[in-house]
Amino acid sequence: MKKYRILQAGRLLPSLEARLAAEFETTLLAEQPDPTAFLAAHGGEFEGFVTSAGVGCTADMLARLPNLRVISSFGVGLDKLDLAAAKGRGIAVGYTPDVLNDCVADLALGLLIDASRGIGRGERHVRAGKWPEGGTPLQTRVSGKRLGIVGMGRIGRVIARRAAGFDMKIAYHARRKAADVPFAYYQRLVDLARDSDFLVAIVPGGRDTFHLIDEEVLRALGPQGILVNVARGPVVDEAALVRCLQEGALGGAALDVFEAEPRMPEALWAMENVVLTPHIGSATRETRAAMSRLTLDNLVAHFAGKPVPTPVP
Ligand code: NAP
Ligand code: 8YV
Repeated sequence: MKKYRILQAGRLLPSLEARLAAEFETTLLAEQPDPTAFLAAHGGEFEGFVTSAGVGCTADMLARLPNLRVISSFGVGLDKLDLAAAKGRGIAVGYTPDVLNDCVADLALGLLIDASRGIGRGERHVRAGKWPEGGTPLQTRVSGKRLGIVGMGRIGRVIARRAAGFDMKIAYHARRKAADVPFAYYQRLVDLARDSDFLVAIVPGGRDTFHLIDEEVLRALGPQGILVNVARGPVVDEAALVRCLQEGALGGAALDVFEAEPRMPEALWAMENVVLTPHIGSATRETRAAMSRLTLDNLVAHFAGKPVPTPVP
């Protein structure tokens, strides 16, 4: 039986790579000594492209893949994938929504609790052998506080459900009021920030949300306020964030994503009121396995002549 040729942008989980290789003839672009020259010489040989939210697919790459019929992306974020160019060519595009909602929401709450209760700070204190000299300073209560959620989509709703378990007063900002959620809607993000103790960002990245959380929003959140970013780095003006933290204009931050990750302003490293994680929102064995299944299913369905099960909107 004919095995379709699939170009794989970067490394994926070994189990997913094995299943892809069993179904298709796969080639790893990242492994080519000169990926650009490889694409120019061989791009026309591939009918499928498998990528991830972190790597995406630019219009330039698409132009070098003239016979592409389907793209399958491991992840829900589409900010690095040129959807307009793909759709313009009639290329089917699948991604992995919903299966990661729980784990990303769990992490958002974990980060929020860590930043407000100082779990990491306390842990560093104990491990450094400093407890006999005294404990850590009093921190901030979580339960019953005002939570502002920036983005009330699939993941934002799960964050809200978790936060309700902590008796939080929930409000949100998005471009439109959602008809099916009971929480207070703020059309202006700065007003939501002013009325929140904690602000959690969970909007898509890309041009529309670039620096949505700017200095004005951070100052409105205020000296007792805590920002959690599990969305995308560029959603927050990172230079303004560092400035506000240094001046005490913002109480604290917990960040899973960064403007130029894996790099970040080193000033953050020394701040005890900041929690930093390396983009691990969906990084559990269970969720990554579910994402892998969808990534494969989307390709298999397409080459079986069926619609991709989880197409991009
Ligand atoms: P979703 O269901 O599409 O929800 C997106 C929400 O953001 C919607 O409420 C949308 O409402 C709002 N929104 C979109 N553009 C906006 C804008 N310009 N201003 C204000 N609000 C805006 O997406 P999701 O599945 O919840 O995922 C959200 C994002 O989380 C992903 O795109 C990804 O970047 C990020 N993510 C991060 C991790 C991680 O590991 N840290 C993991 C998964 C996802 P309106 O359309 O009404 O504005
Ligand atoms: C991915 C994510 O793990 O799904 C997304 O948008 O940010 C994460 O879940 C990561 O981007 C995979 O590259």
